[in-house]
Amino acid sequence: MIEYFLQKPPGGALPAFITGAGIEAVRRFHRSVPGYEPTPLISLESLAKDLGVAKVLVKDESRRFGLNAFKGLGGIYAVAAAAARRAGLDAEVSLPDLLAPRVRDRIAGMTFVTATDGNHGRGVAWAARMIGCNAAVYMPKGASRFRFDAIREFGAAVEILDMNYDDAVRYAYEKAEENGWTPVQDTAWEGYEDIPNAITLGYMTMADEAFSQIAEQGLPQATHVFLQAGVGSMAGGVLGYMVSRFGEGHPKAVIMEAAAAACIYESMLKGDGKPHAVKGGLDTIMAGLACGEANAVTFGILRDHASAFLSCDDETARMGMRLLAWPKGKDAAVVSGESGAVGAGAIELIMKEKNYEELRTGLGLGEDSTVLIFSTEGDTDPESYQKIIKEEKS
Ligand SMILES: Cc1ncc(COP(=O)(O)O)c(C=O)c1O
Repeated sequence: MIEYFLQKPPGGALPAFITGAGIEAVRRFHRSVPGYEPTPLISLESLAKDLGVAKVLVKDESRRFGLNAFKGLGGIYAVAAAAARRAGLDAEVSLPDLLAPRVRDRIAGMTFVTATDGNHGRGVAWAARMIGCNAAVYMPKGASRFRFDAIREFGAAVEILDMNYDDAVRYAYEKAEENGWTPVQDTAWEGYEDIPNAITLGYMTMADEAFSQIAEQGLPQATHVFLQAGVGSMAGGVLGYMVSRFGEGHPKAVIMEAAAAACIYESMLKGDGKPHAVKGGLDTIMAGLACGEANAVTFGILRDHASAFLSCDDETARMGMRLLAWPKGKDAAVVSGESGAVGAGAIELIMKEKNYEELRTGLGLGEDSTVLIFSTEGDTDPESYQKIIKEEKS
């Protein structure tokens, strides 16, 4: 089930850190990272036919840097920027610049600290290890053991706390202040913006790859882009990229959240233009989306430029996981975890269920539409993934 808020985006200026030159710099940086290659963009022709749209395109982020999720794109860019600052280097560094012996000595004692539901922490731990630094990672109550182990694999000190995600963010920040560590949080608040903005820029590589692949593969331009949001840094980054690159004619953006943590959707309903928090246990299978407080910077991008905001129940994600795992016709299978698959579930519901006619019409979704979704993670909790894809629809 989905609840929704539709709007004609009012438009507005993008935050100053989003520039064409900034996006180019991120692209150059990522190309310098060992193991970097674009993730696949897959066209699911049979699914598109079944749903009554022209194309369904899926960007498969399970293949990103061997990390099983997109988040390392932001983690490595922000960690490198902070390390460059510490070493007194130009902001625009390449990964090999940071590995030069004299620079390595200057940054070797750095510890990067973050709070995470899993994927971001894994990205930060991987990035810290790559440049010879340390990482400390805090996870909220109920965090998956698999995701905990996946972070430890990169040598980080990891702890699961007895608090929700938003409190874990505050805890990690306090630890940073106490110990002189560098916080690498993927959400911005007043006075803490440079690192989250670097993370948001980092995610633009994923968007840039997708739109380049659409052109290279001779596919029709995307008309609708479905973006899932926890704090909203990824959605804000991709939408910011689209507005910067395509101007007013950018594809329509649909923002999806987990119903238990739908802080952006709830803020849009309130309608005062400000982000409002959702409190409580934030209990959802979409662990990556279990964030009750939006990134204050990217919230403005979503508010000004997105066409719809969806609050999705867990069944929407389960349905999406199964749709991508057991494809129709000759479509390729995509391994997509709970937070990755909600877009597939949402488009299935919107196109097939009568209740969503207003949303379908409001968004102009139909036979001429090319829908782009980002499967932002693979089976980051393999036990839960297997269980869900084998379940019958409840
Ligand atoms: C797999 C996955 N998808 C989407 C998101 C949402 O990203 P953001 O918190 O930037 O909104 C996350 C966040 O952790 C995630 O892990």
